[in-house]
Amino acid sequence: MAKTDKQHINKKGGGTMISNILIIGSGGREHALAWKLAQSPRIGKLYVAPGNGGTRDIAENIAIEATDARGLARFAEKNSINLTVVGPDDPLAFGVVDVFQSHGLRIFGPTRVAAQIEASKAFAKRLMRDSDIPTAPFRIFRKHESALEYVRKHGAPIVVKASGLALGKGAYPCKTLAKAEKALAEIMLERAYNQAGNEVIVEEFLNGQEVSIHALCDGKTSILLPTAQDHKPIFDGDKGKNTGGMGTIAPVPWVTDQTLREVNEQIVRPTLQALTKKGKPFTGCLYPGLKMTDEGPKVLEYNARFGDPETQSYMRLLKTDLLDVLDACVDGKLADLAVEWNSGFAVCVVLASGGYPGKYKKEIPISGITEAEKIPGVVVFHAGTMCSDQLRTSGGRVLGVTAIGKTLQKALDRAYEAVRQIKFKDMQYRKDIGAKAIAMGF
Ligand SMILES: Nc1ncnc2c1ncn2[C@@H]1O[C@H](COP(=O)(O)OP(=O)(O)O)[C@@H](O)[C@H]1O
Ligand SMILES: [Mg+2]
Repeated sequence: MAKTDKQHINKKGGGTMISNILIIGSGGREHALAWKLAQSPRIGKLYVAPGNGGTRDIAENIAIEATDARGLARFAEKNSINLTVVGPDDPLAFGVVDVFQSHGLRIFGPTRVAAQIEASKAFAKRLMRDSDIPTAPFRIFRKHESALEYVRKHGAPIVVKASGLALGKGAYPCKTLAKAEKALAEIMLERAYNQAGNEVIVEEFLNGQEVSIHALCDGKTSILLPTAQDHKPIFDGDKGKNTGGMGTIAPVPWVTDQTLREVNEQIVRPTLQALTKKGKPFTGCLYPGLKMTDEGPKVLEYNARFGDPETQSYMRLLKTDLLDVLDACVDGKLADLAVEWNSGFAVCVVLASGGYPGKYKKEIPISGITEAEKIPGVVVFHAGTMCSDQLRTSGGRVLGVTAIGKTLQKALDRAYEAVRQIKFKDMQYRKDIGAKAIAMGF
């Protein structure tokens, strides 16, 4: 079929129709989604707003900010976009889905009120308490004085969190009382995260490995994706400050089907039911972050979107056409769809700018991606990159080097071999992605 014949307007639905797609965001997650959608036999025009130096090779980058909901909706109407996919958290919290829906535009993601499950940790904690969903015991504070008094009484280890969105930097797991006091001062007095710190959660420190759960939801039905494990702290051995994620493995080999069923029954379903009961039915991707404690899985927080480094691994494993999956979610037809995954493992190793998650330099030339992608099973997704005279860095997390393999070790070997091909000044990455699972004998 000629390209022009494909450009039908198809506001209402999926089926066999060709679709023009708009992806909102500019990270590795968005590049991975674009990469997978570009392989759909039904793909028409593919746009990413604002996109990055990698998405420009497979889609058209549009210079509209991810948080400019009205600008994005205008673009979608003008360009006969059949489906818009929201990557990041803040457009959801600002109500991009509501704006699109009020224009009769199809969009993948939760409404503003449903996205509160991520945008307000206080809301999420209260919902968990009311619905008996396992999570760390907690208190919520609005006054620094009372939070400080409580923290002093309770002692360390303890966790202090800004309730609102804080670019993955607002949670402080504190091993000492001094650290907890400093966290409270940063959030509540210095206002490091502005209004995101209006409410503060102080909660029990949980021990155990972290697992990312992703559930696709159409408002009625939900389907679990494979488990994934992110590596949040910047340095090997989970040392240093938390980041937006330094690398993932999927699936997590030691999480059994039985555990996953329990997570579904005790966490995912009750959460979706509670949201529906509150008049906030959830469509899109619900991503609870879990700690696997001795007492069982407990929720650390919810995200209302795909995880960034997780999605880079997921897209390497997904067999089903992603467009079919997203259409089914938006159209409430998830029950009719069998989502299939390739066997084996996928991993993602994030290459970050020196200094990240603190201050870092930008516009540093990047080389070696072509060589890296010659290694079998390797695909490099871009995050903080831009293309001017040549490819350069433009953000903290720069690239996601992904690889698939029959075994976890094989996937890791390929990914790290690819990493060695890539160079930019002061590049940093974790050398122990997947190491916990390997040490457990997988
Ligand atoms: N109760 C807790 N006990 C131990 N570690 C925690 C706890 N809550 C959060 N963390 C750590 O802090 C990280 C970030 O916390 P999270 O609640 O996911 O907030 P965000 O992702 O919004 O920064 C988690 O991935 C986990 O490593
Ligand atoms: Mg988190």
